[in-house]
Amino acid sequence: MNELVIRTPDDWHLHFRDGDFLAETVPATARCFRRAIVMPNLTPPVTTADLAVAYRQRILAASPEGSHFEPLMTLYLTDKTTTADIRAARRAGVVAAKLYPAGATTNSSAAVSSLDSLEPVFEALAENAMLLLVHGEVTDGDIDIFDREKVFIDRHLEGIVDRHPGLKVVFEHITTKDAVDFVMDGPITLAATVTPQHLLLNRNDLFVGGIRPHNYCLPVLKRSTHQQALRQAVASGSPKFFLGTDSAPHAKHKKEASCGCAGCYSAWSAIELYAQVFEELGVLDKLEAFASEHGPNFYGLPLNQGTITLAKRPWQIPEVIKMSDGDTIVPFFAGQTVGWQLQG
Ligand code: DOR
Ligand code: ZN
Repeated sequence: MNELVIRTPDDWHLHFRDGDFLAETVPATARCFRRAIVMPNLTPPVTTADLAVAYRQRILAASPEGSHFEPLMTLYLTDKTTTADIRAARRAGVVAAKLYPAGATTNSSAAVSSLDSLEPVFEALAENAMLLLVHGEVTDGDIDIFDREKVFIDRHLEGIVDRHPGLKVVFEHITTKDAVDFVMDGPITLAATVTPQHLLLNRNDLFVGGIRPHNYCLPVLKRSTHQQALRQAVASGSPKFFLGTDSAPHAKHKKEASCGCAGCYSAWSAIELYAQVFEELGVLDKLEAFASEHGPNFYGLPLNQGTITLAKRPWQIPEVIKMSDGDTIVPFFAGQTVGWQLQG
């Protein structure tokens, strides 16, 4: 097969950032994706309907002319989020709320430290037909970093899903076989996003001949048995798994540092890298549903009408991307060859 035409996909989890970043990140995603679920972990975070509406406007202002790109906004939960905040967000068109355990990742220090106190907020989300998007890791320093996802499932996620049968929950950027099994065995209100990096890499890739900061993201890459479980999950064609890149840019100097930031900037090569994975797995015929159907079906949104075309034509991901403010970003898989290329 030399050409692949699929329904226009969406990205169900990414980070655009703000300010100067938007001129880089929004066109990179809009080249391919019609919609994207926009993460709210700005500084300060997007904690209110008003902040979400204003951020949406800044994203739209950075969208390429004629792109019809639609950002889908999310609310950042804190210990202080109220049910009134949820209702106001719903009225403003916000589609989901994002739960970060405090300290779990980039710009999450203001997030949730007491999950139990959010029970009324979870109820309000269900009542307002909004989704709960979960960064599923405990943050306790005494829990091994490679076990944090599994412990989060056992301590928190299982209970949330059980207590709120009317709440749609997306377990974001899953990284373990435990998460795959939990989602597979869970109710139809539970689904998961899967990133390109967690399908392509395992924790060995963090240490190939030295430390590899551009493969560092959170949740951190796990051992290869977990990577294989994720690959099998997407190859199964189950509608519970869909595309969410977690594309998350950081300036080069902030990743290549004594305390480097977590995040892989994959927007310029994401759909191509997913195609590569699905081809390796012998399931290219399942790419379209993963990229363009399972997500909108779970969110209760219409499928996109257009198509994109991928050609089997090797190309090299740039070593570096220059931003308008002079900073540079090293994209995910920089300098490596990808077998598929988006046309047009
Ligand atoms: O690697 C990550 N980067 N994981 C996250 O959860 C957040 C993201 C970011 O915002 O940089
Ligand atoms: Zn993310």
